[in-house]
Amino acid sequence: MNQYIITIENFGNITWQNQHSLLEALEDAGIDIDYSCRSGACSACKIKLLSGKVHWRNQPVASIHGNEILACSVQPITDIKIALPN
Ligand code: FES
Repeated sequence: MNQYIITIENFGNITWQNQHSLLEALEDAGIDIDYSCRSGACSACKIKLLSGKVHWRNQPVASIHGNEILACSVQPITDIKIALPN
């Protein structure tokens, strides 16, 4: 079982424990994060990846730029640091 540390800017750390997606890991930790489609189409779950690497489970349909990722569509493959929307 893979376990990675997810550092959330201005919040703290949670642990990735093989959840289906980063979105599910955030929800499991009780973090309120917007979502709608849960499949990479709507961009409601868009966050920023500040460091580390993620694997895209499905290629995003929603437009993203720079260091933006869709929490519903990625899994961490290293420890990562992210920033949630304000
Ligand atoms: S919830 Fe729609 S892109 Fe993630």
